[in-house]
Amino acid sequence: MAAVGERLDLRIDDLSHDGRGIGRIDGQVVFVAGGLPGDQLRVRLSRQARGHWHGELLAVADPSPQRRRPPCILSDHCGGCSLQAFDDGAEAAWKQAAVAAALQRIAGLDPGLMRPFALSVPALGTRNRALIPLERTEEGVLRAGYYRRGTHRIVNMNQCPVLDPRIDRLIQPIKDDLEASGWPVDRHGHSGGLRHLGLRVGHHSGEVLITLIASQRELPGIEELAQEWYRRWDEVVGVGLNLQPEPTNQLMGASTDTLAGRGWLNESFAGLQVRIAADTFFQVHTLQAERVVPWLIEAFGPAEGRLVDAYCGIGTYSLPLAAAGWRVQGVEQHPGAVELARHNAAANGLADRAGFECHDVAQVLAERLSDATALFVDPPRKGLDAATVAAILAGRPQRLAYLSCDPATLARDLGRLCSEGAYDLRWVQALDLFPNTSHVETLAVLSCAAGP
Ligand SMILES: C[S@@+](CC[C@H](N)C(=O)[O-])C[C@H]1O[C@@H](n2cnc3c(N)ncnc32)[C@H](O)[C@@H]1O
Repeated sequence: MAAVGERLDLRIDDLSHDGRGIGRIDGQVVFVAGGLPGDQLRVRLSRQARGHWHGELLAVADPSPQRRRPPCILSDHCGGCSLQAFDDGAEAAWKQAAVAAALQRIAGLDPGLMRPFALSVPALGTRNRALIPLERTEEGVLRAGYYRRGTHRIVNMNQCPVLDPRIDRLIQPIKDDLEASGWPVDRHGHSGGLRHLGLRVGHHSGEVLITLIASQRELPGIEELAQEWYRRWDEVVGVGLNLQPEPTNQLMGASTDTLAGRGWLNESFAGLQVRIAADTFFQVHTLQAERVVPWLIEAFGPAEGRLVDAYCGIGTYSLPLAAAGWRVQGVEQHPGAVELARHNAAANGLADRAGFECHDVAQVLAERLSDATALFVDPPRKGLDAATVAAILAGRPQRLAYLSCDPATLARDLGRLCSEGAYDLRWVQALDLFPNTSHVETLAVLSCAAGP
């Protein structure tokens, strides 16, 4: 019988959904962060929980042929990327297989409907946004970085190779200035102070926004420092302070004050001009997100009638679809995103084809679908709630496309939509928006078998 603290050799033969290696002892699964399929590991059993084990990686005795030297020097500790040591082809194959398995296992759908995986090339330097936790040591040293795997302890970093180099290079000098400021750091929102550093860059425009996220406004000298950063770096178009006083894992609060420059960056997306704010959603990998546009145009077919874009953000996909001829109604609950979506429509001469409203999708979708031909949904990770699925099944728009960042909730929702023949799954496209991590994005395209 295995026991906590025991050291043993373990062969890894799979990966969990969150990118931990999976091996087996005595018929029970052992999860090992840092393990890759094909590895032979030396492991210490650290914890047992409900029929499975957690193991700590001590050494890679015999590496998987798919293991490579990770591009990041912190990869053994930092929890930001779990698959840095997996070569790009193996990562892509695993992601494709993970989506196929979810479709089949959770929804009983045919994985043969999947198109070849859309890899991110390159796989480094692509992430256009970072929200980096901060802490100050007892000696006053300011540390910034993502959490050590499975903990809330920061792995201090000065650079991160997955980030766009135009924001990566700002981390070290900003840390130095924050250290010199003497401001307290209050990452969990209990005592008042800085919590996170936010950086966002427009991939095509190169414009950068810096945002400090804090649990209180009283940070003496913050306006002066913001002005200094704005003057020091040409590409920085705005510096803001976002207030998040709540002790929650929602990283940004509802209000952001602009301290220098402006509160948005200009970017081009699929050939259209858009404004993006520090606190509005925007896909973190611009080039990969742009690849979705022609797939959506194909999915929806001839632009005849009305298309509802539920969870539309700043109009990222509503606008290219309006430009392709659709009359689009966007629904989004973030007021700032709706304001930007309206601005973005007008700026591209699309205001007469694309309207936006600030609502909870679940509350208004049934009504909005009354005469809609097509529906695009791009919900948060938790997927569609029961009311939203019920509204789709009642309204039955002929064409439906679902973009998801979680294969499990996607498969659950597709299972409901396809049950009893309401919708047919036509094709599925998985793509890499988050290279070097276990996250995978998936577009599923459906059509309605018959009216309600
Ligand atoms: C995954 S993002 C997609 C945004 C947009 N499609 C894009 O690609 O930029 C999900 C969006 O849904 C919004 N949202 C989350 N829950 C919502 C709800 N219940 N009703 C309306 N919008 C919601 C979020 O504010 C966010 O902008």
